[in-house]
Amino acid sequence: MAFEKVGVVGLGTMGAGIAEVFARAGIRVIGVEADAEALARGRGHLERSTGRALDKGRLTAEEREAILGRVTLTTAREDLADADLVIEAIPEVLEYKVALFTDLDRICKPETVLATNTSSLPVTAIAAATGRPKRVIGMHFFNPAPVMRLVEVVGTILTEDGLLEDVSHLAWQLGKTPVVVGDLAGFVVNRLLLPYLNHAAVLLEHGVARRDDIDAAMRKGVGLPMGPFALLDLIGLDTAYEIMGVLFGETRSTRHAPAPLLRELVGAGLLGRKTGRGFYDQDGPAPAEAWKAHVTGVTVHGEGAEELVARLDAAGFRASDTPDLVLRLGERPVIEHAVRHADPSRVVGIHLVGQDVAEVVSTVLTSPETAGAAAGLMTVLGLTVVPCKDRAGFVADALLFAHLNDAVRMHASGYASIDAIDTAMRLGCGYPAGPFEMLERIGLRKVRDGLRALYAEYREPSFAPAPLLDQLVAAGLPAFPRA
Ligand code: 3HC
Repeated sequence: MAFEKVGVVGLGTMGAGIAEVFARAGIRVIGVEADAEALARGRGHLERSTGRALDKGRLTAEEREAILGRVTLTTAREDLADADLVIEAIPEVLEYKVALFTDLDRICKPETVLATNTSSLPVTAIAAATGRPKRVIGMHFFNPAPVMRLVEVVGTILTEDGLLEDVSHLAWQLGKTPVVVGDLAGFVVNRLLLPYLNHAAVLLEHGVARRDDIDAAMRKGVGLPMGPFALLDLIGLDTAYEIMGVLFGETRSTRHAPAPLLRELVGAGLLGRKTGRGFYDQDGPAPAEAWKAHVTGVTVHGEGAEELVARLDAAGFRASDTPDLVLRLGERPVIEHAVRHADPSRVVGIHLVGQDVAEVVSTVLTSPETAGAAAGLMTVLGLTVVPCKDRAGFVADALLFAHLNDAVRMHASGYASIDAIDTAMRLGCGYPAGPFEMLERIGLRKVRDGLRALYAEYREPSFAPAPLLDQLVAAGLPAFPRA
């Protein structure tokens, strides 16, 4: 089936981005908003986004004109009567969506495919509310829509044969990669991504580490394109909170309980980029804190000590028998080592994440001077410092391993293949590697052991290693079997 004329209802950030994607692919678009004011905002989104591409030399002035010329903006839903496809991107309230789809069902020709860009609401319920349930599907884009290369194509038990293939073909035509999924709340990406982002908010709320440090750990240490708080601000804290609410409503898992901090920020109207302030003040980055080293002598213990001593040596810091600073490398609770030392206040844990990040771990007995000196020393080595508390997994492993475990559980549930999950997270969220690729790179045993430690400390059932992961480790296999 050919999609030559496409309607987009709702021209907020996502809707305007989706309209741009279609227009860029040479498809005529009718953008619909509720009133003239909202329409003007939608036009503003389109003009700004294509204007930026023009400024960067990614579009010529003629191409930009052609793209904008393909988009007709209107407040009359009736203008969608002969569209081949209509995509809805209005607020995430099921009643609004059902009312809109009932209306579209009345207005549009019988062949029109109706698609929702919902993040987590049930596509099946929306489809069943129309007289054409077999032609109602999900088409889920990612923010920023013109940039992220994934589209989740969501089918229901009511979807007619061949439609998902046609819509997938359309996604390729748009320059996107489709991943076909079933109608499960959050689909692949939001079901994996949002609990991880929420987990970061929980760590922040519990004071395990600070906002910028958690973001730095995940961006510079793990290699994700954005830290969790920057990404929450991009997605919108209200959207994130709603998705968590839907997930929790379905699973009743504490892993899905929205962080109270999220609720508080949403209540305060601090929704992220769209309101100018969320976790971050959007006006600019907070000033970096300068760490200074005041170290006269240092000793290093634990796995990898020799390498760190060599690096310190090269930077002019000599190991000493009477150290004022004791660095404990490794992943076990640092306090267990500190209490065996003559002066536990001088003991700091160091956990290196990737090539560029050092988590600097203070126990309840570490003095602030010691923590500051250790941080300064790591800075001298060219590492980004992430000060944090002595909690299982510290920051990066706690967030990442739990996230990867969720992916294993999702696969084991039969909802999505390893390839679908890896592709979705790489293209939907810009991950450098999919969760299974990351798991195999880090080592299944290391992740499994890390999860065991997390579970032992927090007693959170979802931190217990997925049985499939446990079994692969027990079998001595280094990778997940692909079908
Ligand atoms: N609109 C249009 N284009 C944008 C944009 C925007 N809001 N933001 C960035 N871009 C473009 C830039 O113009 C640039 O394009 P160019 O290469 O043609 O010049 C390109 O994207 C890269 O941008 P920058 O160099 O400015 O910035 P980065 O390299 O830091 O990349 C990013 C920005 C693409 C947003 C990257 O940080 C990233 O991939 N982040 C992860 C985003 C993510 O996870 N999204 C999914 C969220 S979940 C979701 O949306 C589902 C929903 O249901 C909640």
